[in-house]
Amino acid sequence: MTNKTSVLGDVHKKTVSFLKSKKDKENYSKYRNEFDLASNFKKIQKFPLHIDLEIDNLCNFACSFCPIGQPESKFHEQYKTIKTIEKDKVYSLLDECKLIGVKSVQFSLVNEPLANKNIFDYIEYANKLGIIDISIVSNGYLLNEKNSNKILSSGLKKIQFSLDAFSEKTYKERKLKNLKPANYKKTINNILNFLELKKNKKSNFPIVRVSFIEMEENKHEKNDFESFWSNKVDAIHYQKLIDFINDDNQEKKEKEYKCNMPMFRMAVKADGTVKPCCTSYGDDIIIGNIYKNTLNEIWNSKFMKKFQKMHINGKADTNKSCLECINKTF
Ligand SMILES: C[S@@+](CC[C@H](N)C(=O)[O-])C[C@H]1O[C@@H](n2cnc3c(N)ncnc32)[C@H](O)[C@@H]1O
Ligand code: SF4
Ligand code: SF4
Repeated sequence: MTNKTSVLGDVHKKTVSFLKSKKDKENYSKYRNEFDLASNFKKIQKFPLHIDLEIDNLCNFACSFCPIGQPESKFHEQYKTIKTIEKDKVYSLLDECKLIGVKSVQFSLVNEPLANKNIFDYIEYANKLGIIDISIVSNGYLLNEKNSNKILSSGLKKIQFSLDAFSEKTYKERKLKNLKPANYKKTINNILNFLELKKNKKSNFPIVRVSFIEMEENKHEKNDFESFWSNKVDAIHYQKLIDFINDDNQEKKEKEYKCNMPMFRMAVKADGTVKPCCTSYGDDIIIGNIYKNTLNEIWNSKFMKKFQKMHINGKADTNKSCLECINKTF
């Protein structure tokens, strides 16, 4: 099971308490129970509980630790040409998600969701379909007042702002496309203004969390980061830094070679390929293509069932990408 992240704050308990109708509360709790069964390898679900939808491969940033900002990384190549999933295709994927029972959709992977002009239409559409858990992960740079208002009326359930810093100095790893450091104060003000607007509108949703990748450069700021944000947001998410540049494929005996992601999720990349997880290492594990297969076909394919069993049995080291991923990130 993945232990690369830790979260302060129980977002799911909060979500249930914020949902209005008894039916929604029950549905959400049921979905989280199914999620627990899947993530603890106790049940192979008939459909993915969660879908990551990378609506395009575009970002306004080129962070030094992300494949988008790392020309040396083997994952960088796929961000050199623009890829977008057309609007009609996004809608039809959401229709299928609803049909097969998907409970949770995240409109981001390695991209900046607020840089896509259709993002609010997608969130609203998913919300109208009744998908109960809709989320995005954002760098927050494009979170002006207009976008903040749109988010607050869209039906978005969760938003994560990735900060990784508590000062201008450490924020410099988050670079703009022209490789100049992004403006730390601008990001922080965007988020504080958004929180103020949310409070004024008495909105419970989206649940807000901020995240912090722990690095040599910023580890001394972790306590200050936590003190500053803990009474302002619903949760704080600490992430382990993954080194996408240097190879480290040495088998580590103490590792448990299993990962729970393929038990509950599938990820659709901007080029249409489908992966069994959301990490860049999963990019080499192509389990289908949205232009050739339905999500249901991909989830229930022989390959996917075999892949899930491989993880349940702790044999993930037999897959080259999983071996590298687990050694690097878990
Ligand atoms: C790839 S970003 C996409 C969403 C958005 N652009 C953002 O930065 O929040 C998704 C998450 O991956 C994290 N991330 C990027 N590079 C990482 C790395 N090398 N190790 C760990 N997390 C990383 C980011 O901090 C962010 O929380
Ligand atoms: S903002 Fe997100 S997607 Fe963009 S380069 Fe940074 S980590 Fe990657
Ligand atoms: S590459 Fe394999 S081990 Fe890594 S997250 Fe994906 S499924 Fe899990």
